[in-house]
Amino acid sequence: MSWSPKSWRNRPAAQMPDYPDPEALGRVEARLAAAPPLTKVADIMHLRAQLARVASGRAFLIQGGDCAESFAEFGSDKVRTTFNLLLKMGAILRAGGYGEVVHLARIAGQFAKPRSSPSETIDGVTLPSYRGDAVNGPAFDEASRIPDPRRLLDAHRQAQVTIDLLKAYAAAAYADLPEINRDVGSNEPARPVSLFTSHEALLLNYEQALTRFDEASERWWALSGHMIWIGDRTRQLDGAHVEFASGIANPIGLKCGPNLEPDALLRLIDRLDPDNRPGRLVLIGRFGAANVGDRLPELMRVTLREGRAAIWSIDPMHGNTRSLGGFKTRLVQDIMAEVSAFFEVAAAENVHPGGVHLEMTGADVTECLGGSVKMSEEDLPRRYLTLCDPRLNRTQALDVASTIARLLRQRRALTRSDAA
Ligand code: PEP
Ligand code: CO
Repeated sequence: MSWSPKSWRNRPAAQMPDYPDPEALGRVEARLAAAPPLTKVADIMHLRAQLARVASGRAFLIQGGDCAESFAEFGSDKVRTTFNLLLKMGAILRAGGYGEVVHLARIAGQFAKPRSSPSETIDGVTLPSYRGDAVNGPAFDEASRIPDPRRLLDAHRQAQVTIDLLKAYAAAAYADLPEINRDVGSNEPARPVSLFTSHEALLLNYEQALTRFDEASERWWALSGHMIWIGDRTRQLDGAHVEFASGIANPIGLKCGPNLEPDALLRLIDRLDPDNRPGRLVLIGRFGAANVGDRLPELMRVTLREGRAAIWSIDPMHGNTRSLGGFKTRLVQDIMAEVSAFFEVAAAENVHPGGVHLEMTGADVTECLGGSVKMSEEDLPRRYLTLCDPRLNRTQALDVASTIARLLRQRRALTRSDAA
């Protein structure tokens, strides 16, 4: 059957909410379909061009932001601190001598979460799991947990405001860059800043309503963000999410977890990037520090052997979650270890280590342990604010950026001595 923005509806769709009132959902979809798009085709093409430079080994991608955006936590300060953090991380890499950095935020659409369990039990009471503010509410009561399609409209509105704020900050950052660069010991001249948006394309009713045909390119584009990705739990080859992503022209991310076999990866690449176009596909490994050395080499080997243009990036967050004293947390040392292993495997397999994908916030939270701030288990309750996964705070994210800068410098020295 041929692709259309709604052809995903003929496929099994994992992790999607069960809306009790399909007519209410239909009304919301109609309103979204009539709303102006959140992004422009020209900007998505600009991101594609930048990612093509990552694919050819000339640039590095930093993707990061909240695990889940929330309606309650929203504010212009929140957007500004995330924006500034991404910019500063980029400046750290550039000060380390790494010229080109692509800034991609997990923002303006990251409102829905796949869950390991469909329900949650507290003190003998079982309710449907919280699936992100675009689906239901986090409070543990029956009414909050019923999926409400009107939340899609609130998510869309917040995404629109976020994008407008990001545009304003990008214009201001042009002026602020000399100061950011000075902070990290660089004297490079200010250049215009491009910051792109991304989210997991989990809620396909929302995605379909914001997908538009562009006459000039004669292609369909998901105008809900610049890049969208497919999660590790929704990447079934014949499933709805892969079907939807296969037909749109945006850059696509694909999470690759420890259960993904090399053959299955190649079949997914055939579906998602049949024309092997640089900048189209970003493979985002998320194995855990303990598994990355086992799982990643054979996956990288097949993509290299088959001459695939797809970028390899690493998400060192989702394979490193653990539970401590009733809190979900992550250790900065595990995160650093997975990033370092990613660089080692890439060097051994002769693949460009193209990027990193982080859950982080510009705010001063206490959700992950360790780092130069030496966050300890006793600190966790102090400012544990995430509704979903634990995020690096600002200092911890800058620690990770410094580690990446060092790894990129080492890699460059290695490449130079190979060439000499
Ligand atoms: C996420 O990125 O928040 C996420 C749920 O990741 P994954 O699909 O890799 O588990
Ligand atoms: Co997460």
